[in-house]
Amino acid sequence: MLQNRLEPVLDPRALAREMSNKLLIDGAMVPAVSRKTFKVVNPATQETVSEAADGAAADVDVAVSAAAKAQKAWGKMAPRERGRLVQECGRILNDHVEELARLVTIETGKAIRTESRVEAGVFADIFVFYGGLGSELKGETVPFKPGMLTITQREPIGVVGAIIPWNAPLLLMALKVAPAMVAGNTVVLKSAEEAPLTVLRACQIMNQVLPPGVLNILSGDGPQCGAPLVAHKGIGKVTFTGSVETGKLVYGAASQKLIPVTLELGGKSPMIVMGDADLDKAIDGAIVGMRFTRQGQSCTAASRIFVHESIHDAFVKRLKAKVDAMKMGDPLDEKTDIGTIISKQQYDKVVSYIRYGENAPGATAHRCSSMPADAKLAKGYFVQPVIFTGIANDNKLAREEIFGPVACVIKFKDYEEAIRQANDTEYGLAATIWTRDLKTALDATQRLEAGLVQVNQNLVVQANMSYGGIKNSGLGKEASLEAMLEHFTRKKTIVLNLG
Ligand code: NAI
Ligand code: MG
Repeated sequence: MLQNRLEPVLDPRALAREMSNKLLIDGAMVPAVSRKTFKVVNPATQETVSEAADGAAADVDVAVSAAAKAQKAWGKMAPRERGRLVQECGRILNDHVEELARLVTIETGKAIRTESRVEAGVFADIFVFYGGLGSELKGETVPFKPGMLTITQREPIGVVGAIIPWNAPLLLMALKVAPAMVAGNTVVLKSAEEAPLTVLRACQIMNQVLPPGVLNILSGDGPQCGAPLVAHKGIGKVTFTGSVETGKLVYGAASQKLIPVTLELGGKSPMIVMGDADLDKAIDGAIVGMRFTRQGQSCTAASRIFVHESIHDAFVKRLKAKVDAMKMGDPLDEKTDIGTIISKQQYDKVVSYIRYGENAPGATAHRCSSMPADAKLAKGYFVQPVIFTGIANDNKLAREEIFGPVACVIKFKDYEEAIRQANDTEYGLAATIWTRDLKTALDATQRLEAGLVQVNQNLVVQANMSYGGIKNSGLGKEASLEAMLEHFTRKKTIVLNLG
C-alpha cells in the first residue's frame, strides 16, 4: 500500500495552479533550469489557468541522464514485475479518472461527458492492458544445425523519447509510455505546448509506484525542447504523434543517429457509404468517425464521406439533423456534446478552410448545431460543425487535413469510382465501407489503402488492435502487443555451438 497517497483534486483550476512551473524529472517536480514559464489557456474562456515550465535543452539533458540511470535497474527487473508496476499505475489512475477528465477539459476545451471522461478511462485501462504483457517479450529458436542452439532475444532499447500533441494527450501518452516501460525502457516525454498539465499530473500519480527516473515529463515548445530531445545522444528511440511536417523533421533528425522511429501523423480518412447501407448506422458512424464531439480534432477523422447518389440527399439531411441536435457549450457542463477548438492558431486555420469552402464554386456549406449563448463563453474558440456538399475529391478541403469539425460529403455513382477516389490521397490512416453486401465489403477491405479498414463500424483505437498508417500517415503501429515487440525492443541473435 502506498504511504501518503495522492488524493484526487476535483477542482480543475486549483489543480492547474498546482501543476504550474513544474517538470517531472527523476521522481521530483522541479522548475525548468531557465525558470521560464509559458501560459496555459482555457480555450473555452481564454482565461490563463496555469504557467507551465518552459523546458529546453538543459532540462532534456537532466531528464535523459535520470532516465538512463533508472534504465539500468528497470531493464533488468523481471518483465512480469515491471508489468505488475505498470498495471498498478493503471489501477491508481483509475481512481483519478474524474480529476484527470476535469483537468484535461479546462486545458483542451473538450467536452467532459463525450470526450474527456472517456479518454481518462481508456488511459487508465491501457496501462492495465500493457501491464499484463510482460511475459510476452519472447524470442524464438531458429532451426540451424544439430549441436548449434540459435535463439533470438528481445532486449529493451534504452531511453525512449516520446513527443505528443494536444488533441488526446492522455490517450496518446499511454500508447507510448505503457509499452515502452513494460519492454524495459525508461521514457522522457515532451507534452504539447497547448496541453502540458494533465499529462504532468498523470505522471505524478504514476510516480507513486514507479521507481524515480522511469517516466519523466518535460513541457516546452517544439524547436526548443522537442528537437533537443530527438537529437540527444542518450535517446535510443523516438516515438512521435503530430503533424506530417513535424514528423518529417523528427525523422530527419533521428536519421542522423540511425535510431528507430515510430510516427503517427495525419489523415484524411475515407468513409464509403454504398446505396444498400443501413442508413441509421452509417449516419451514427459518420458522427463518431468525424469526431464531431472532439471538434473533428482527430488524425483518424472520417472527413471524406463518399455517399452513393441514390441515398446522398437523404444521408446529408439526416446527418445534418443529428449534428444539429448536438449541443455546443461549456466543456465542463454534463449536457454539452461539443466543446471548443484548442487554440487561436487552430481556430484561425479551421475558420479559413470554412471560408474557402463557402466561396468554392458549386459547394454548399451546411452549418450545424448552434453557437453557445452563454456570455462567459463569448471568447471561446467555438466553431459550428460544417458539412460540405458539392465538393470534389481534388478540392483542397478534401485533400488537406483540416483538424476541425468540417466534413466533405462527396457523391459517387459506382463502386469503382468510390474506391479510386478514397485511395486518391496522400494519407492512409483509416478507412471504412458501409454496405450489406458481403462481397463488396470483403473486396473493399482488400483494396482500401489504409492501416485500419473497418466494415459497418467506425470504432476508435482499441487496446490490442494495431493502429498506424501508411503513406504520409506515418510509420509503425501502436496500441497492440506487436507494437510493443516491434517498436520498443531490439532483437539479438545468439548462437551457441554445443558441439
Ligand atoms: P506539431 O506536429 O507541430 O506538434 C506536435 C508535437 O511536436 C508537439 O509536442 C510539438 O511541440 C512538437 N514539435 C514541434 N516541432 C518540433 C520539432 N522541430 N522537433 C520535435 N518536436 C517538435 O502539431 P501542431 O503544430 O500542434 O498542429 C499542426 C497541425 O498538425 C494540426 O492542424 C493538425 O493538422 C496536425 N496534427 C495532427 C495530429 C495527429 O494526431 N496526427 C495531432 C496534432 C496536430
Ligand atoms: Mg507545430
